[in-house]
Amino acid sequence: MNPSRRQLIKSIASGYVVVSVSSLSLFSCKQKPKVKSDFSYPQGLASADPQPDSIVLWTHVEDTKRDSSDIALTLQIALDEQFSQGVIEQKVIAPKERDNTVRVHVKGLQAHTTYYYRFLAPDNGSSPIGRTWTAPRHEDEVELSVAVASCQHYTTGYFSAYRRLINDDKQAKKIDMILHTGDFLYEMDFVAIPDLNRNKVSLTNPDGSERTVMPFPDGEKLKKGWTIAKTLADFRHLYKKYIADPDLMEARRLYPFVYVWDDHELFNDYWQGHLPHGVYQNRKVNANQAWFEYMPCALNDAWVGPANKNYAHDFKHPGKLEDVQEPQFDDDYLNTEPNNLKAIYSLAIFRSLRWGKLVDLFAIDGRSYRGDRGVPKEILSVGVVPYPTDPLDPEFVETMNAGRTANNGNPPDTVIYEGKVVDNVRKNSPIGSMLGRKQKNWLKESLKNSSARWKPILNNTPFMRFGFDVSFKPGGKSGGIFWSDSWDGYPIERREMMKFIRDEKISNVVSLTGDRHAHYAGYIYDDYDAENPSSIIPEFACASISAPCRILSQNTVTQKNPDLADLVVGDGKAINYENDMSPTLNAWMLFGAQTARAMAKGDMNKAEKEKRDDINPHMLYADNDAYGFLVATFTQEKVSVDFIATQEPVKKYGDKGPAQRRKVTYSTKAWTPGSQPQLTFEGVDGSKPILGLRDD
Ligand SMILES: [Fe+2]
Repeated sequence: MNPSRRQLIKSIASGYVVVSVSSLSLFSCKQKPKVKSDFSYPQGLASADPQPDSIVLWTHVEDTKRDSSDIALTLQIALDEQFSQGVIEQKVIAPKERDNTVRVHVKGLQAHTTYYYRFLAPDNGSSPIGRTWTAPRHEDEVELSVAVASCQHYTTGYFSAYRRLINDDKQAKKIDMILHTGDFLYEMDFVAIPDLNRNKVSLTNPDGSERTVMPFPDGEKLKKGWTIAKTLADFRHLYKKYIADPDLMEARRLYPFVYVWDDHELFNDYWQGHLPHGVYQNRKVNANQAWFEYMPCALNDAWVGPANKNYAHDFKHPGKLEDVQEPQFDDDYLNTEPNNLKAIYSLAIFRSLRWGKLVDLFAIDGRSYRGDRGVPKEILSVGVVPYPTDPLDPEFVETMNAGRTANNGNPPDTVIYEGKVVDNVRKNSPIGSMLGRKQKNWLKESLKNSSARWKPILNNTPFMRFGFDVSFKPGGKSGGIFWSDSWDGYPIERREMMKFIRDEKISNVVSLTGDRHAHYAGYIYDDYDAENPSSIIPEFACASISAPCRILSQNTVTQKNPDLADLVVGDGKAINYENDMSPTLNAWMLFGAQTARAMAKGDMNKAEKEKRDDINPHMLYADNDAYGFLVATFTQEKVSVDFIATQEPVKKYGDKGPAQRRKVTYSTKAWTPGSQPQLTFEGVDGSKPILGLRDD
């Protein structure tokens, strides 16, 4: 039977194709791959967003002989790697206007079934063979294991943690999806940070050349000396470089991914179409377009989810925009200036996915609709990357976040910042929102209406408070805020979300996140400043794949600050640590400044004695020199989370990938509506994170 009769192309447009299998009878795929071809697939192929009857498949093809125009590919999907039990053999177009990428949303597939797929070029040159699977039927109870990854910087480390993940799973065959919380790539060329032994990092490609993303096709040179991506060609260039990494490409070939983005897919700390150094609507559109072309996911055709609404949609180019610098904010801090709206609405990625009876996953976008950063750059004013010198008083952050509603609608004219009186530039601002009105309502409705046992949120930044003990300073508190770009800068909306979950008695919500380049486990409270706060949901944050681990990046800010430097990094030799730099930051976060300082000096007895129990009491695990990923397994009874810490990714570890330094496991039993989650420390396999466990 002619396979084309069994299939129906619903639409072929702009490199996005929906294909439906209309019969389940199998056939042997006709077109056979040819080894010698004019076509290549330098980024391999990928799958994403599995649902019971569908999967999204992707590739990028290059014509090595001709200046390519649209390229017609044949997609083959089969139940076996020999393609003798074919389910689809279908022409799809990889259009030039989409950089010869193609994403195919294949529907009509069997639930919870493994499929093999490949693309054939016009001369039958074949892509690698990809492996993927669909999700179970909504009514089936099937446990789910997800790996969670984040923050991969091409020029500061190899992506070899993926190799560890792939190898570990060869036997276990456990991982169903890889969730990526964002910072899939970094917009800049190079950050020169030495490794944990203070050696210069120099990474090379297999041919010995430098592992670099330079030169950009266009690029913008910043005063700091970095070059960053600016044009569509720049962002496409980055995706091609990153995905051609063999470890990442292999992970994409073998597992379906679910992606959200964070800031570095465009620029550090961006929000809506605003970068710290100006408004760049066209650049937001460029970043959105390249993301859409290279990162497969179901958008137009995403499942409507428990809110019975799907706002996600494909990229649609809004045409040339003006980079209008004067914003017009509404009450939700949305810049309603038309160019801004066109830029941020050119693509929408927040969506839900379901895994059988057990899991509704909510993938959110914490960048495109958020208000200006928690503490504005006008106050921080430290170049293109605004950062406070010292942790900030939470009350000050609250005043900034509250804008014109501060002090019951009487915001102060001036505020004290680092001992100086400065104008309150937020005096007339709306309350800062992280999610934006529409997404927030969607998330609330989705959580409320979900019938799944578990409701994980794939979150690009941690919800959790990271309080820093600066009580040793005159007037200093034990919970200062450094990171106002994550939820710590948006405490009002954090309270709103947690109180909603509490008051609606929604149980078994979990936050899965990354962003901070360290492993953390803890609770989100309804109100961190309340006298008796309640734990509402647990949060599991994974370390980076290759971006500098937390103590390395934090050290770039604190190393010249004599009050704080040794609270982040200590002398490893003084305590016989495995690296020259030891993570005193673990102790600063979990037990306070005095413990961290004693550890830095090598006095571990004193460090123990000085432990305080009121420093971030919600945080149970902090592993600030970790790299790696986490694996979360959801069953009817519980979710257990293995935090995998791998060797520093600055050496080549070969086919096996970096060794596992440790595995730290936490679990939480499903809790009933109205009660609170309880995290259980299940133990450590390997070396313990030094002063990084509360319940050790
Ligand atoms: Fe990052």
